[in-house]
Amino acid sequence: MKVLVVGGAGYIGSHVAKALMQSGHTVTVFDNLSSGQKINLFSQNVFVEGNILDYKALCQAMKGHDAVVHLAAKKAVGESMENPMLYSVNNISGSINILNAMVETGAKYLVFSSSAAVYGMPDKSLIDENTPLNPINYYGFTKLEIEKFMQWYDQLKNIKFVALRYFNAVGYDADGDIRGKEINSQNLLPIIMEVLSGKRSELKIFGNDYPTPDGTCIRDYIHVSDLASAHVLALEKLAQGMASQSLNLGTGKGTSVKEMVEAVEKVSGRKVPVVYAPRRAGDPAILIASADKARSLLGWKPAYTDICKIVQTVYSIN
Ligand code: UFG
Repeated sequence: MKVLVVGGAGYIGSHVAKALMQSGHTVTVFDNLSSGQKINLFSQNVFVEGNILDYKALCQAMKGHDAVVHLAAKKAVGESMENPMLYSVNNISGSINILNAMVETGAKYLVFSSSAAVYGMPDKSLIDENTPLNPINYYGFTKLEIEKFMQWYDQLKNIKFVALRYFNAVGYDADGDIRGKEINSQNLLPIIMEVLSGKRSELKIFGNDYPTPDGTCIRDYIHVSDLASAHVLALEKLAQGMASQSLNLGTGKGTSVKEMVEAVEKVSGRKVPVVYAPRRAGDPAILIASADKARSLLGWKPAYTDICKIVQTVYSIN
């Protein structure tokens, strides 16, 4: 297939572009390099620098492609609450442009990077796709709205889609082919790595009084290369006639904040200084994916299930 990877120079997008290429697809990367980086591009791919808000440029780049993978979005939860306008324009208007451009250019299949944030604060810890959709931040709201737009475009314009609801994306390409470290990440593992590099003096653990075995929050950390392989399978299944779907992507295994710190200490052989800080607003105690639907519909299986092996891929790029 000829695939336009929108946001393909970014952290997850570059891993998706690599996985598509390795499966024999032809890739064009469309990225405005706002958080994506040129060093994440592969010479085999065509690169078009452009913005999804520029509808003409988007159509131009999309022409002749069968499919689109859409990963171009703002994704900082806190920022989305302070500046919802930015998220309305980039995430929602940008995605509408992509859908309209697909109708205009005849691209048929869309894989969209959605998020576990569409579930909000679920009252159970193992989350399947039937869990009520109830985002508690504006970022999650934008992802859910885009899923709804895609359902309408499927019904009205026959655009077939898979929305992949990522749990906590971590890690880097183990072959070292992707060299750009994610810029300014506010997530746990990149922050721990900044403590190790001396950029921060300590890790603040947000809350140690949660109803979990060690008192810290539990998340489902999924390796970025496993996310990437799911995109390839989703596109290929769509082309084989699979109906549009929303699918969770996670390992089904939880890791607490303390366990993550311990994993980094084990891999690096160094102590990570920590302090306990108050709970962060909006953090559920436990979020673990049931990804059975992705496993059975796509035949997908995460290769990384050991948190130390995941941390190793981060440690080697730092
Ligand atoms: N944490 C700390 N200290 C820090 C940073 C994080 O203790 O300095 C804790 C958080 O409180 C949380 C856990 O580490 O318990 C993970 O936090 P992240 O910020 O890395 O990730 P979140 O689970 O909050 O959210 C991430 C993405 C969201 C996505 C969600 C899906 O940032 O976009 O996963 O599960 F929606």
